[in-house]
Amino acid sequence: MARTSDRRDDAWRVGVLFSHSGFMAIIEETQLRGTLLAIDEINAAGGVNGRELVPVIYDPGSEPVVFGQLAKRLMVDDAISTIFGCYTSSSRKAVIPVVERLNGLLWYPTLYEGFEFSPNVIYTGAAPNQNSVVLSRYLMENFGPRIFFVGSDYIYPRESNRIMAELVRRQGGDVVGEVYVPLRAQRSDFRSAMRLIKAARPDAIFSTVVGDGTVYLYQSYFDAGFDSANMPIASLTTTEAEIRAMGFDVGKGHITAASYFQNIGGSCNERFVSRYQKRYGADEPTNACVEAAYFQVHVFAKALESTNSMATDVLRTMVLGTEYEAPQGAISINETSNHADLWTRIGRVNRCGQFDVVLQSQDVVPADPYMVGAGWGLAAGLT
Ligand code: ACM
Repeated sequence: MARTSDRRDDAWRVGVLFSHSGFMAIIEETQLRGTLLAIDEINAAGGVNGRELVPVIYDPGSEPVVFGQLAKRLMVDDAISTIFGCYTSSSRKAVIPVVERLNGLLWYPTLYEGFEFSPNVIYTGAAPNQNSVVLSRYLMENFGPRIFFVGSDYIYPRESNRIMAELVRRQGGDVVGEVYVPLRAQRSDFRSAMRLIKAARPDAIFSTVVGDGTVYLYQSYFDAGFDSANMPIASLTTTEAEIRAMGFDVGKGHITAASYFQNIGGSCNERFVSRYQKRYGADEPTNACVEAAYFQVHVFAKALESTNSMATDVLRTMVLGTEYEAPQGAISINETSNHADLWTRIGRVNRCGQFDVVLQSQDVVPADPYMVGAGWGLAAGLT
């Protein structure tokens, strides 16, 4: 069991594990920023019960195995029990044995493939029933039934595609191709994917490519002369951050399903965007992953205020059921699954690199990570 000092005169020390370097820094660095922004806001308002939050930050360099090693260092050497971190599912899978063995709490702010539960993880990104279900229906209704899959080669894309394939087939569609590129893909790795897409003539692409590879995929697609108006790339992972990196002309017309886009409006979101841009620069967009990284720290602080203890078992009991007014709208942490009940939205990239919302849920969609409830049903209640 990790030693976490709860002496009243101590600061509350928390671990932060997002990559500042390597091929995933493009998105993980934004999650680091969201985490630090929330910590600063909490400290500026007097901390939690008068005690400052102090982040202990390491850079895992986009290497899953290093995430596991650093999680162990945080828990054993630094005596920290709460960790905010991880984007890729492979990094989460490397941290889980550590937090389970040492009874820590990992706060995971990234959409993922679902079909997982750990009592030592609070999942604040979307599960497939909160994004893939609606996206599959939207693609088939608006573009057609022939979908081509392209993904990075690791657990999230393989599993996410398994679910998407099932959704497409249940609606009478076809998966007309499925290719994987290396996780650390270079631009040249997409050449054969472009040839296969040309030959298959799909109605839409479903991409589960992540990190720098996202930029190369969309640029290769643009250079191959494909048209996003007729055959868009749809994704769960392509956010404002990747669109900015690839160029707005390259990203325009493509589609993402997410709980949050910078462009959704609302006073809570406007305050968040303005604070984020004041701190990191007026051209730095927010995105769904930074938003979850940000609100989960506030959810943690709210629970800590009540428990005045970072002991995992005490804190988790308080976190489950918490409601919070996040930039995406009111969310809550589902007591039965440790996952967040989140909003579902579909956005299409405009010429300014922002997503215009084309569909959104009327309320939060309860997390159903094992797709056992309304999961496979094609989400009613969208406007
Ligand atoms: C992911 O690997 N969960 C995007």
